[in-house]
Amino acid sequence: MNITIVGTGYVGLVSGTCFAETGITVTCVDVDQKKIDNLNKGIIPIYEPGLTPMVTRNMEKGRLSFSTSLKDSITEADAVFIAVGTPPDEDGSADLQYVLGVAREIGKHAQHYMVVVTKSTVPIGTAKKVKAAVQDELDKRNSDLTFDVASNPEFLKEGAAIDDFLKPDRVVIGTESEKAQKAMKRLYKPFLMNNHPVIFMDIPSAEMTKYAANSMLATKISFMNDIANLCEIVGADVNNVRKGIGSDSRIGNKFIYPGTGYGGSCFPKDVQALVKTSEQMGHPLEILKSVELVNNRQKSVLYKKIMSHFNGDIKGKRFGIWGLSFKPNTDDMREAPALVVIDKLLKEGAEIVAYDPVAMEECERRIGDSVQYAKDQYEALIDADALIVITEWNEFKVPNFRVMEKLLKNKIIFDGRNIYDIEEMKDNEYTYYSIGREV
Ligand code: UGA
Repeated sequence: MNITIVGTGYVGLVSGTCFAETGITVTCVDVDQKKIDNLNKGIIPIYEPGLTPMVTRNMEKGRLSFSTSLKDSITEADAVFIAVGTPPDEDGSADLQYVLGVAREIGKHAQHYMVVVTKSTVPIGTAKKVKAAVQDELDKRNSDLTFDVASNPEFLKEGAAIDDFLKPDRVVIGTESEKAQKAMKRLYKPFLMNNHPVIFMDIPSAEMTKYAANSMLATKISFMNDIANLCEIVGADVNNVRKGIGSDSRIGNKFIYPGTGYGGSCFPKDVQALVKTSEQMGHPLEILKSVELVNNRQKSVLYKKIMSHFNGDIKGKRFGIWGLSFKPNTDDMREAPALVVIDKLLKEGAEIVAYDPVAMEECERRIGDSVQYAKDQYEALIDADALIVITEWNEFKVPNFRVMEKLLKNKIIFDGRNIYDIEEMKDNEYTYYSIGREV
């Protein structure tokens, strides 16, 4: 089979490469010439464990190529996947101009039947708009070519994207014709053969599934964050509560870890977009509005603890920060809680020395040199009034507390991810603040 993936962002690049890995011939297309030139040289624009060797291997095998020409790339394509960005509008709804622009290009250049698949996270009803845009361009050409649309939302987690794609919990595919379903079945044959559930449904349900999944996960996190805050007030330990409820298989033990709020390019944007859609449809999802509110509040929880410890005055105080990315194993800082914490501390006149295993360059690109960057995690602690842990990278989990106490001015840790043991902190005589546990 032969497919084209339009958009070499996170979803497009990972999906294209993984499809190539299953033996399909894939062309990834992007309008950004420099990005395509780099990809052709094997330079990957994102950090994702395992991706670079997989791109190189599949390019060498001739199954994966990169191009700026959508027209040339679709001459043999059985399916075209639209994986371009859908940035939020000012009012929070998804901006579809890029998705529909690609649909028009397909309509202008298609010469044979193909399935046009939306892979970006798009509002319910987008496949219909894609269909109309392709058809409109075909009509302009007086062409009687037939095509189908399909919705195949992606469930990749950054940092674990390759495994998520190749060993999925499920694949969701929305179609409206048997021909399209057949083509999608052929494409996903390796997954069907390995007994990964491939769930076929109608298109609106597939589009809704993506939003409902991310919103449910975001709801779990906000719920736990709010429970954690209440735990502190009533003297409970949220770690115990998490284990206590997580062992009920109806609740499950995943995505109930409290922290500094969810970030990234998906949860905040998707929750916002579903809230918007629900309002537009006259059925506002009140639960989701609260999920968003609680999350925005949670991003300031560490800051509040810091201010309270220092009696509201942190002017001239120096803080070492461990972890900048919105979660471990990625350099992505979109909607990262670290940005909120840093902004608030700087406004109060604090000094910051930050360390992250991969996201420092990205942080510098976003906020420049308003913070200092350390060579390693220990350097960030030299003369610091406290350590603030924002992202739970593995290398922060078992640090050398003896070395740390020699570097830090005060033995104080604000831990936004509950990665340390309270008893150990007591034994080491650290003043330790975490989320939803004993103060
Ligand atoms: C998320 C979903 O998990 C994927 O299934 C989905 O495909 C993807 O969005 C998408 O829509 O493209 P991702 O944003 O990469 O993936 O990251 P997650 O691992 O889900 O984490 C999201 C945020 O939730 C992070 O800030 C993380 O720190 C936070 N989180 C996660 C918690 O605070 N507690 C938890 O228990 C789990």
